[in-house]
Amino acid sequence: MTTVFEEEAPARVQASCSLDDYLDMPDHSMDDRIAAARAALGKQAVILGHHYQRDEIIRFADHTGDSYKLSKIAAEAAGRYIVFCGVHFMAESADILAQPNQQVILPDMNAGCSMADMADISQVEACWDSLTAAGLMKEDAGGLIPLTYMNSTAAIKAFCGERGGLVCTSSNAAAAFRWAFARGQKILFLPDQHLGRNTAHAMGIPPQEMVVWDPYQINGGLMPERLRAARVILWKGHCSVHQRFLPEHVDRVRAKYPGIQVIVHPECRLEVCQKADEIGSTERLIKIIEQAPTGTMFAVGTEIHLVHRLGQRFASLGKRVITLDDSGCLCTTMFRISPQHLAWVLENLVEGNVVNRIRVSEDVKHWARVALDRMLEIRGV
Ligand code: 13P
Ligand code: SF4
Repeated sequence: MTTVFEEEAPARVQASCSLDDYLDMPDHSMDDRIAAARAALGKQAVILGHHYQRDEIIRFADHTGDSYKLSKIAAEAAGRYIVFCGVHFMAESADILAQPNQQVILPDMNAGCSMADMADISQVEACWDSLTAAGLMKEDAGGLIPLTYMNSTAAIKAFCGERGGLVCTSSNAAAAFRWAFARGQKILFLPDQHLGRNTAHAMGIPPQEMVVWDPYQINGGLMPERLRAARVILWKGHCSVHQRFLPEHVDRVRAKYPGIQVIVHPECRLEVCQKADEIGSTERLIKIIEQAPTGTMFAVGTEIHLVHRLGQRFASLGKRVITLDDSGCLCTTMFRISPQHLAWVLENLVEGNVVNRIRVSEDVKHWARVALDRMLEIRGV
């Protein structure tokens, strides 16, 4: 398997303090240090913060956004260092889109994504081989286009680019489906079954034309005739944060707050999305609340840090924002990016040390860039 990222060689990662020294200190003691390091770096560095990051990080971000918005900002960023406060696949995408003189840094290398981890490149290659054996790639069988959600490894993005496919985000999945159906009759959608199912459902594709490929079963657990009838082959992956929202949460919140607007992310289950008033990417959910009249109350089905922040931001404007499920859905890997990690990477940069650099290998980068460029060229946001 190709190695898709490397950390800087140990000799270059020596800081005057070790990461452990930072981790021993309280969160709030980092603020002045982060601000000072940020100021010292000036235009050399740009800090990107995904909407699911904690407040202690978001307050230092030069730009905030969802995956799509941040990938566009990363592609256009001028700084020499792109400090990505998000998860691993996002930093990989930034490295793929960055200029050759730019370096992308992920403050904590353990900030992965459980959904992205559900599709390993070797499993996807094995799936593709099985689909080839089933004759689904032949012209007269309709042709198969691989399409991957942004929340996947660089190796999988490259896999899609090399085979005539592309990347999408939750902002442009419908446009990506239209792009793919203009070129083939079937889509292999990786790795989030819910985003794939919700998108296909909204396009009028019936359930009998969708199948779920289970990488842990022979032939994905599917009979050849089911595969032949399918227009969309969904990978059996999900987001552990959004999958926790259930249809009964929608019923409960509506019973408690009559008139409440339920808005959810398309990584939620189809049954939840169907009950919701609106479905939207993270950026779209924010816009819906921004554009609503004073007095509107929302229950939002997405990551809890964003929901809390929206609650605070809109309270003074007379709009109430609560979570769809009181038990709260925290993305534990996003949460790994702490003020201590941010201070550590920034102070190292001030000293000339690049720590936690994300570097996608050149062969993977080429085809992943093809897949990402196809995404950036399609309309639909
Ligand atoms: P977006 O950023 O595309 O809304 O996706 C949500 C998510 O789960 C990011 O990890
Ligand atoms: Fe991955 Fe879900 Fe966390 Fe996004 S919210 S990083 S998809 S686990």
